[in-house]
Amino acid sequence: MAILELEALTRRFSTLVAVNALTLTIERGEMFALLGPNGAGKSTTIKMLTTLLPPSAGSARVDGLDIARHPSAVRRIIGYVPQMLSADGTLTGRENLSVFARLYDVPRRERRPRVEEALAFMGLADAADRPVKQYSGGMIRRLEIAQSMIHNPRVLFLDEPTVGLDPSARRAVWEHIEQLRHRTGATIVLTTHQMEEADALCNRVAIMHQGNLVALGTPAELKASVAKRAATLEDVFLHYTGSDLETGGTYSETRRTRRAVRRLG
Ligand SMILES: Nc1ncnc2c1ncn2[C@@H]1O[C@H](COP(=O)(O)OP(=O)(O)O)[C@@H](O)[C@H]1O
Ligand SMILES: [Mg+2]
Repeated sequence: MAILELEALTRRFSTLVAVNALTLTIERGEMFALLGPNGAGKSTTIKMLTTLLPPSAGSARVDGLDIARHPSAVRRIIGYVPQMLSADGTLTGRENLSVFARLYDVPRRERRPRVEEALAFMGLADAADRPVKQYSGGMIRRLEIAQSMIHNPRVLFLDEPTVGLDPSARRAVWEHIEQLRHRTGATIVLTTHQMEEADALCNRVAIMHQGNLVALGTPAELKASVAKRAATLEDVFLHYTGSDLETGGTYSETRRTRRAVRRLG
């Protein structure tokens, strides 16, 4: 059984159709990327799958559980890192993780070892006792991913995990996500604007444009589908969305995230 099953999943905001009858399945253990220009409907899709936003029509199941009928059961088996920052800047890394271990009902005896293991795994052991407001953007992202995995979820949703990070911090975050997937076997669904990383690390990608699913397949399949020799995933993106990755809201979104990072203090 597929771990995620979306059937004509739809979300409207008054007259705007943010997500238009999205139908797709994601298999257990996949690393799956949702790509698309800003406003394509990626975050809205993730908010519906994480039960934070009710669909206007259609349905979805997470490991067989209907998101509308069993939202709390769904929440127990997923992890979610939102696009906006979710760590508390005044607490240390270890304290933030402990808060999430309690929030997610990790049994008391298991909390401490899980927190220590997560800190070590994410390369944060040395910084564990520093307030998060002193962390770099990449360290904060790694902490947020650790927070969202503290209860061993079966599916992890990451909304723009590398936005606003410099290239080396970005690489470190991707490497940690990849290792996490290998170690836990969790299914990972993420959104990103990093085409090279999506190409290298994701088994399948879906491209959304104005609420519609416009392409779905392995990076190799999608590259073969555009009439250009040695096409890159960026060419595929351009082909299906007509959007240039470097224009539009990407920059302002990065700035927004950076401002949010500063606000943590
Ligand atoms: N709460 C909301 N109220 C009204 N419109 C919204 C809301 N959230 C998202 N939208 C709109 O829905 C569309 C899709 O947004 P979103 O899912 O955030 O796109 P993406 O994550 O791909 O950038 C956009 O046009 C956005 O302005
Ligand atoms: Mg978004």
